[in-house]
Amino acid sequence: MNPFGGNCRPTRVPLLLQTGRSSLPVPHPWNFQRPIDILEAYFWRADEETGSGRHNRYLDVPGFPPVFVTRDPGVIRAILTATGDRAGQFERDTLPSSGIARATGEDTLLFSNGPLWRRQRKVSASPFGKTALFQVDVFCEFEDTFRSTVRQRLMALRQHLSQTGLPHLQIAVEPEIKALMLEMLVECFFGTSINYQELREVYVPAVERVIDHIVRDTVVNRLGLSPWLLAKCSRRYARAFRDFTTFEELTDRVLATRSSGRGLWKKLRSEAPDAAMRSNIKVFLAGALEATTSYATWAISHLARNECWQEKVFREVETMADYTPDQLGSARDLNAVLDETLRLTPSLYFLPRKATAPIRIETADGREMRIPAGTHILLDVWHANRHADHWGEEVTGFPATEFAPDRWDRLAVQNANSKEFLHFGFGHGPRVCPGKHLGQLEVALVVGVFVKLFRFRAVHPENEVRAGVSQSCSAREFFSRRTAGLAGCFHCQAATVG
Ligand code: HEM
Repeated sequence: MNPFGGNCRPTRVPLLLQTGRSSLPVPHPWNFQRPIDILEAYFWRADEETGSGRHNRYLDVPGFPPVFVTRDPGVIRAILTATGDRAGQFERDTLPSSGIARATGEDTLLFSNGPLWRRQRKVSASPFGKTALFQVDVFCEFEDTFRSTVRQRLMALRQHLSQTGLPHLQIAVEPEIKALMLEMLVECFFGTSINYQELREVYVPAVERVIDHIVRDTVVNRLGLSPWLLAKCSRRYARAFRDFTTFEELTDRVLATRSSGRGLWKKLRSEAPDAAMRSNIKVFLAGALEATTSYATWAISHLARNECWQEKVFREVETMADYTPDQLGSARDLNAVLDETLRLTPSLYFLPRKATAPIRIETADGREMRIPAGTHILLDVWHANRHADHWGEEVTGFPATEFAPDRWDRLAVQNANSKEFLHFGFGHGPRVCPGKHLGQLEVALVVGVFVKLFRFRAVHPENEVRAGVSQSCSAREFFSRRTAGLAGCFHCQAATVG
């Protein structure tokens, strides 16, 4: 019996016994590093269907609530809109984030539901809002910090090349971007001064390992055993334990500037004691770092495979001397590249939800689905954004799996209803990403400046996707300095998460 109702019902996916699938449709210790394969297992042979099962599937294991996976943008939007703290709404499913909660605490904006979530949302609205961030002086602070670090890194690169006499150099770009992102967050957002070298060499690696640990722990430690206990018998957990201590230390340093009101702390209107802020600060530090790094590195990775767009963005930023909100907002090509990046390679590849009661949803085109109480829901943004039915040539003028920033212009010219063409890169509805504006500011700075300084191309034809808290990719890129004729071979590892 299909437990779903309405004229838009998912069809059932068997748990076992389906030949040809590259993975089971549930994460386990041997497949959790291949998140896209797990999602694909739900849509195995779905393209042969013509009804609502083409983009909506469910898994029903007796004794467990159903797991519903959708790559239907209309259904995704309806569920995101109906998420909240009122009775009969969807909430954030905490099952896939249990590892995060063990690392940060459960009382965070990301993990909590109901009135606790609502309260935290209100508190964080002000410092993350567009009005707080898109002020010229705030922008300038981000820009100054960024400029001085980039200048140092370029000097180090130039020095290395002249000392070694090498015409080529392999550099991992992801750690470069990660360190910059953490510096902007810590220094400009939280007003905490930490030496760049220390951020890069101590805190970034520790936070990275914490995140790796979180991903593994979510799948492997289903019983939720205490990490302190596990650290006594496993070397991996012992290492993670040390990294957690370093992460706590970073959190302490960030919290210590709260009383001085530096950075955007002054906008955080909360009487809550520091202890109550800890969990969220950790979510902001680790989640924001991963999401922004993933976003920027994917954008660079796409541009590395697309010389024409690289050149277009270069022409746009070439003469840009100051990065003001207006300047960045008017950089049409850069913004089209960033939108297309989030469409094709979203930092969070699925969004988890849970039905708190039997819930009826209706899509904008009038389709209806009734979802049973307790259903775990995965909104599969990654595949929704890559399916020809939603983003293909007929609909947007370009193949769905192609990196084609032009499609955004075309959709605008067609006067397409923007609500129909959501990439969900920052989510949608009441739980939309509160760090969206901060993230956009940082990513636009990093990508814009990267294109201005380097000409680069990819060595490998494709980027591989692997698991992060959400997903990640790795790529090798080849670059040469635009300005001074340095040539280098560039190894870029784009990570992710959220
Ligand atoms: C530019 C890169 C970023 C991307 C692509 C991104 C993406 C997302 C997405 C898709 C969601 C929705 C999750 C859901 O609906 O289940 C989300 C939520 C969230 N993001 Fe971001 N994010 C980014 C940057 C940031 C930053 C910079 C911060 C904070 C410093 C942040 C903090 C959060 C928090 C706390 C939530 C949970 C909100 C809630 O559930 O009410 N994000 N993010």
